Amino acid sequence: MNKEVNIKELLKELSLSEKIGQLQQLASTFFIENSKGELTGPLKDLGISEDEIWTAGSVLGVNSAEEAYEIQSKYLEKSNSKIPLLFMADIIHGYRTIFPIPLAIGCSWNLENAVLCGQVSAKEASLSGVHVTFSPMVDLVRDPRWGRVMESTGEDTYLNGEFGKAFVKGYQGDLSSPYNIASCVKHFAAYGAVEAGREYNTVDLSDRQLKEYYLPSYKESIDEGAKMVMTSFNTINGIPASGNKYLMRDILRDDFGFEGVAISDWGAVLELMVHGVAADDKEVAYKAIEAGVDIEMMTSCYNKELEKLVREGKVKEELIDEAVLRILKLKKELGLFVNAYGAIDERKAKEMFSCDKHREAVKKVARESMVLLKNDDVLPLKENKRVAVIGPKGNSIDLLGGWSWQGKKEKIATLKEALTNRLGENLVSYAEGCHIDDNDESGFTEATRVASESDIVILALGETSEMSGEGGSRANIGLPGVQEKLADEILRLNKPTVVVLFSGRPLEITSLSAKAPAILEAWFPGTEGSTAVTEVLYGDYNPSGRLTMSFPYAVGQIPVYYNYYNTGRPKLPDGEETRYISQFIDIPNEPLYPFGYGLSYTRYEYTDLKLSSNEMTKDEEIVASVKVKNVGKREGTETVQLYIRDLVGSTVRPMKELKGFKQITLEPQEEVIVNFTITERMLRYYDMNCELVSEPGDFYAMIGSSSENTHKVKFELV
Ligand code: GLC
Repeated sequence: MNKEVNIKELLKELSLSEKIGQLQQLASTFFIENSKGELTGPLKDLGISEDEIWTAGSVLGVNSAEEAYEIQSKYLEKSNSKIPLLFMADIIHGYRTIFPIPLAIGCSWNLENAVLCGQVSAKEASLSGVHVTFSPMVDLVRDPRWGRVMESTGEDTYLNGEFGKAFVKGYQGDLSSPYNIASCVKHFAAYGAVEAGREYNTVDLSDRQLKEYYLPSYKESIDEGAKMVMTSFNTINGIPASGNKYLMRDILRDDFGFEGVAISDWGAVLELMVHGVAADDKEVAYKAIEAGVDIEMMTSCYNKELEKLVREGKVKEELIDEAVLRILKLKKELGLFVNAYGAIDERKAKEMFSCDKHREAVKKVARESMVLLKNDDVLPLKENKRVAVIGPKGNSIDLLGGWSWQGKKEKIATLKEALTNRLGENLVSYAEGCHIDDNDESGFTEATRVASESDIVILALGETSEMSGEGGSRANIGLPGVQEKLADEILRLNKPTVVVLFSGRPLEITSLSAKAPAILEAWFPGTEGSTAVTEVLYGDYNPSGRLTMSFPYAVGQIPVYYNYYNTGRPKLPDGEETRYISQFIDIPNEPLYPFGYGLSYTRYEYTDLKLSSNEMTKDEEIVASVKVKNVGKREGTETVQLYIRDLVGSTVRPMKELKGFKQITLEPQEEVIVNFTITERMLRYYDMNCELVSEPGDFYAMIGSSSENTHKVKFELV
């Protein structure tokens, strides 16, 4: 095969069964018995024949350059079509050098960090034989019980769209380099809206909610050039995505104009039967191909049934041809017909894995992703003090989070080790105190003794990687086990104490936050996470992370998010005490820590918010400007946030919506003017007819340091 391959001519040379084979994706274990490739879903007996393996079009989860080379060679030897396999894998926040989880990257509010993550991941992955990553995941999330919030960048549509574009840019570049890999944006659509945050649960949204909040981030990634889209497991309007023509053809193909490859999630095609919208494999294959699913991942209804459906005239062969052409086009774009082995290079890959440059990259992003939630004059810590590291995350290498299996082969420093490297053995003591998730309190005494002999205490608490990610929904999102009881014991010593949380979601920490004098959310900070944590704790880096997902006051408050509607009976801050308003009688309406929130080791003052005009027509723009001054003693990076509220619409409108953000780094006493241009496009929303419109009327422009801390000024769209 050579680069001049004409894919339409090539298509004509294929038999129907060879064409159908291109629509099949199998795990690497099908191609080589002893593959160490990752299995990321139920491995049902697919009833795939040996012959059908050598007509498959793509592989997922390959484990190394060596394996990829072996599979491709064997395939090209055995396959009749000699059309190279596409290799795909879940590279969600790094390949071997692991970045902080995407939720953490989102909290850096620095889009360049997503680009960097994409570039570094693509370099390591392409050398290891991967052509496509199943990333970015841009599902909007509003429920921290759902384990996959760790893969998202949070609760805001606009921000998720911006980060989705940045990840795509990082992975794909212009696809001219062998070290670029194609992006598969997922999970289409609205997987993050599973009821009760329960994994794989039903999603049921109004069309307006779907279009206003859940769809735009996929569209942004597609407009950035994402080459693939993955269907989600859930229903949309009562029909699972992988059999949903409205979603996959009307919206994805017609409205969004997506011309790339649509792949199902693992097993999602066959699950049409389990959902109860197909009676057998044949009906499954019919519904999925009619809906426009090009590649069936890890089930084999297409292989088993599509040829019959075509022979019986129930499915037009053109539908299959369209799907195959999209796959051949992608293979051609990725250069497979020129070089079936892409950038595979085992030696180079090993040199690249966790090289200094990549370690520095993940450390930088980790520093910027951490969010300082509370600090009653404990941080930054002083170097020459004795430190007790207490807690189950204190000497743990479980710092990578979900979707990081390649990363586990790297040497990862624990927090205790990083502190010892920095301070020396004499100043660092450690006691686990308790396990991460059991009721054993027998370690409390020793932990209390170790802590009492120190000057300061670092309480390292949180979750295991398995407590979030896919299949990681938790109904109770407090600290697992007896960690909070351990914290109570240690806090009673009244030592300067900082709690460092390692988690894949916002946890319910209301009682802890009332007692702990300082709390740093470190998420799962990746390969260099421990060092990054010490650099923040000791002030080498002034924390600049801001939450992109609310911390609930209580699990009963969920879903809680910043862009809520007013309701007809809002609970007003200075409103009268009455029963008959929208409230809980036992907790506040506000989250414990809101969207956009995060502390710094310095302070910023916002003054002089003004508009270039208080009126704008649809053809005009106005500029909102504000002065921001660093009134503290340390340099710091502030994320200035612009929110807009539409005071009256033909449907209810949120109290505020993020429409822009700018990161500025200020020296002590430095003041700058930050400008935002407000455009008519920013004021559009899906009205009662699901039309994307802007309507004349009054708006607030609000600028500040978090969704709960803004200055506002009114303007009118005329
Ligand atoms: C999983 C996940 C999806 C992943 C796919 C392939 O079930 O839902 O995000 O990309 O399977 O591993």
